Amino acid sequence: MNSDNGLPYKIIDIKRISSENEGALQFFESGKDIPFEIKRIYYITDVPKNVWRGRHAHKKLHQLLFCLYGEILLKLSDGTNDYEIILNKPNKGVIITYPLWRDMFWIKKDSVLCIAASEFYDETDYIRNYDEYIKYISDLRG
Ligand code: TYD
Repeated sequence: MNSDNGLPYKIIDIKRISSENEGALQFFESGKDIPFEIKRIYYITDVPKNVWRGRHAHKKLHQLLFCLYGEILLKLSDGTNDYEIILNKPNKGVIITYPLWRDMFWIKKDSVLCIAASEFYDETDYIRNYDEYIKYISDLRG
């Protein structure tokens, strides 16, 4: 678990500086605003409306997910409980450090999902089969 309210994820307000009639600037810093050092940033673009992505878990990877533009449903599961989070503003972030199963649904076309991650890309950190995930998480809980 990685949050203080019993949830296996944490929602954060990303720092935001608004200027009247000139928009807003958001920022976060490794180790200060998020509890890991960032090794990789990636972002998902050009997705049509009503598309699902994800369908995997990560064993070790820590991530901050946020939606830079648009509206995306993030569905998380620990194999027992399911959680739904709407990402619809650029200063709302979700920190995941527990190996949750994740699915993302594009509510609005061209919504941009951005992820700051603690490790370089490593396919061996992925679990892409749900039955395998259930076994992994059961073994982890002991
Ligand atoms: P994936 O993580 O499965 O995307 P999503 O969670 O949106 O479904 O990644 C899609 C493809 O991109 C997959 O073939 C792995 C590759 N990929 C990289 O090569 N580097 C990366 O940093 C990431 C995140 C994915």
